Amino acid sequence: MKKQYLILFLLVIFCACKNESPKKIRIGFSQCVGSDLWRQSMLDAMHRELSFYNNIELIYRDADNNSDVQNTQIKELAALDIDLLIVSPNEASPLTPTIEQLYKEGLPVIITDRRINSSQYTSFIGGDNYEIGRRVGEYAANHMGGKGLILEVTGLPGSSPAIDRNKGFADALANHTQIKTIPVHGDWLKDKAINALKSLTTEQLASVNLVFAHNEVMALGAYEYFTQQGLSKAVSFIGVDGLPGIGLKYVSNKIFLATALYPTGGEEAIKTAMAILQHKNFQKENLLQTVIIDSSNVRIMIQQAFKIDNQQSEITRQQSMITNQRKIYDSQNTALYVTITCLAISILLGGMSFYFLRENKRFAKRLLAKNEEITKQQEQLVIMSEQARMASEARTKFFTNISHEFRTPLTLILAPLEDMIEQGRLHYNQKQSLRLVQKNVIRLLRLINQLMDFRKIELDKLKLHATENDLVAFTRDIVETFHVLAIKRNIDFRLITDEKQLIAWFDINMIDKVLFNLLSNAFKFTNDDGQILVNLICNRSENTVTIKVDDNGIGMEPEAVDHAFELFYNSEITSQQGSGLGLSLSKELIGLHHGSIGVKSTRWQGTSFEIILPLGKDHLRDNEVMTDLPARNPVYEDEKIFITELQDTSGITEESNDQQILKEKRSVLVIEDNSDLRKYLVKRLQDEYEVFDAENGVIGLELAYSNIPDLIISDIVLPDKNGLAITHQLKTDIRTSHIPVILLTSRTTIDNQIEGMRSMADAYLVKPFNVAFLNETIKNMLINRDLLRDHYTSELPVDKTARGPKKLDRKFINDFTAIVENNIGNEKFTADDLCKIMGISRVQLYRKVKALLGVNINEYMISVRLQRAKHLLQEDELTISEVAYKVGFSSAAYFSTVFKSRFNQTPSEFREK
Ligand code: FRU
Repeated sequence: MKKQYLILFLLVIFCACKNESPKKIRIGFSQCVGSDLWRQSMLDAMHRELSFYNNIELIYRDADNNSDVQNTQIKELAALDIDLLIVSPNEASPLTPTIEQLYKEGLPVIITDRRINSSQYTSFIGGDNYEIGRRVGEYAANHMGGKGLILEVTGLPGSSPAIDRNKGFADALANHTQIKTIPVHGDWLKDKAINALKSLTTEQLASVNLVFAHNEVMALGAYEYFTQQGLSKAVSFIGVDGLPGIGLKYVSNKIFLATALYPTGGEEAIKTAMAILQHKNFQKENLLQTVIIDSSNVRIMIQQAFKIDNQQSEITRQQSMITNQRKIYDSQNTALYVTITCLAISILLGGMSFYFLRENKRFAKRLLAKNEEITKQQEQLVIMSEQARMASEARTKFFTNISHEFRTPLTLILAPLEDMIEQGRLHYNQKQSLRLVQKNVIRLLRLINQLMDFRKIELDKLKLHATENDLVAFTRDIVETFHVLAIKRNIDFRLITDEKQLIAWFDINMIDKVLFNLLSNAFKFTNDDGQILVNLICNRSENTVTIKVDDNGIGMEPEAVDHAFELFYNSEITSQQGSGLGLSLSKELIGLHHGSIGVKSTRWQGTSFEIILPLGKDHLRDNEVMTDLPARNPVYEDEKIFITELQDTSGITEESNDQQILKEKRSVLVIEDNSDLRKYLVKRLQDEYEVFDAENGVIGLELAYSNIPDLIISDIVLPDKNGLAITHQLKTDIRTSHIPVILLTSRTTIDNQIEGMRSMADAYLVKPFNVAFLNETIKNMLINRDLLRDHYTSELPVDKTARGPKKLDRKFINDFTAIVENNIGNEKFTADDLCKIMGISRVQLYRKVKALLGVNINEYMISVRLQRAKHLLQEDELTISEVAYKVGFSSAAYFSTVFKSRFNQTPSEFREK
């Protein structure tokens, strides 16, 4: 819209400018002399005629009777870029070349009055000088009666009127032989004429009857001279021009006998010039008519002249009126243009105003609507934020309460649990399970503590309570708590510092948590026989202290390093570093100290955490500094929370029958094609297990059948036979179906996991997996096997509806127990007989039974017999000897010994109870 208005505005301006006058036509006029009346009359006539045209500029030059000056002036005029040149040449010969040249160059040239010696011009306008001379000659001869002396005062000899007038005059007198002439040169000027007459003798003067002067000013000069000599009365004077102020006046006064009319041609010159410039028809040669004026027609001529003069005055008046009108018109025109332009601008501005007004209104409307909307949104936001605040408060309250609610029962679980572990005489497996429970309760406690701290940070409620402490002693205290663990695992664990004491302002409860967290991580991810170094360095120039915890453990992947401090960034990655809570909390706590924490780590090489804390207390706000030492959370709690988790649940050395079995190293088969990872896994597992390793599926299967390991860890993607196929084969073979299989893969989609589980794998770990977690998984699986085995052994014969074992294993157990039970009374029935019936080798059967039931075959058979004996004893129908024989014992005495060793009472004592 704005654009359209602008275009309209420019259009109006353009139209207004277009009405400006077109380019002026320039006419140059070179006059040989301008001072006399005749020439002035010529110039007046030109101006009069010019006033009928617009846009014509007449550039006038007066050569003052000088041909050289006139040549120069003509060239100057031509240089002024004139459209046409009018020349009245002073003399013919000197001016001809200049005029010819310009004409040839294409400049239109009009010659007036006097001619040049060439026809190289556009047009000629002037009187017929020959005719003037001839008519005057005839008139004079007639007046003189055909005899007498005539004094001829000629014009400038080189100028054409003088030549032509002389010629016409001579021709007219040629037949009048008695008329003599004396020529003198007056050069068109009065003074010159008088001077020329002075050269004549008195006799000559006295004999003159008539004076013919080529113009009236020279005739007047002659009259005055003759009067002066007292001779004028006898002499008649004839002139040329017919000027009202001279010729007509003196003819009328009878001073002059006559005069010849010589029209100036000024009007005709302009008319012809316009015809040439406007490309209209014109005549090249224009000879103006003459007439002899004497006493007979002078009155008419004067009247005519008077009339003409009046008319000319009237024309001049009218022209001046026209000029005035034109001026008025022009000014009105200008006013009109200005008015139109103003009007156009007004319309434009009006339009624009209207447009903007409308736009403004629309905009204001929109703004109003938007404002209303914003106000509404603001109101909603206020309500929502109030709701959010309330919800957040409620959530916080709930969160805090629930956290406390969790803490209390967890603490209540923990205390009796610890009592049970410490005091109770428990079955080995029960103790193991309780340890597992304890570990997880503590883990939950730690998580809840960390979550509560986070919550406080989030709500800005966790405030720094910095006190002045010796950081060296403080760090040493914490390091000390890990020493037992380090010794147990043969880890080179030291605090290295040059400082004996380093006084710093820090919150002991916070730095305590950070250091415990970093150290427990280091222990979690460092192998036995590894190294963990704590460096404490004081940077005095920077007034900071650096605490570094370096380990040579398993390290982290680069992506995990990048996100190590992010809260729950990615469970897969952060799983390498525990829950992902501890490090983020540490970062927040160090942040509260205005310090920084960073990590560098390389996979399989180690990790280095670095904390930088500012020294002094200038960086702390007043409310962050405390002078009284705050109550320090008992180190015991952190120690328990962080260290219990690190303790090996399998490290219990209580003796039991079953323990004897477990004392034998369990065997694990690792099938992994990545040699680094395979070697690493072997290294990590070999202290605790007998480890077989295979680089591909085929070798893996061979080892599985030949060794019947207690557990198999297999990669899914393998060069020949993949992990899924291996699992499927093992799980569908009675010899190996009981072996737990853990699949490792880098595939992460849920489909892959489902696929893995379908192949009957017992666990599925996504790479990069946490080795500690793998270890834990292995242990849990073996413990589960043990629990299952306990279940079988204590519940013998097997409860066929019990959940747990896989279908094939259940079938195996069913078959196995059925065979044993069927032969329970057969004292000669041996393990070899069983192998034959079940169709598998003795080693395979032995391992399978041991894996599934945790006992050897003979022991199992005794257990089955004793369990059956218990039932028979309870029924009270058979004697003890009969029971003994019924369950396959060759003598009652042997039965009693075995029964007592197992149940701590004799068969008869049992029957009584
Ligand atoms: C004026 C004049 C006239 C004469 C004419 C001839 O300058 O002398 O009197 O007729 O020039 O060119």
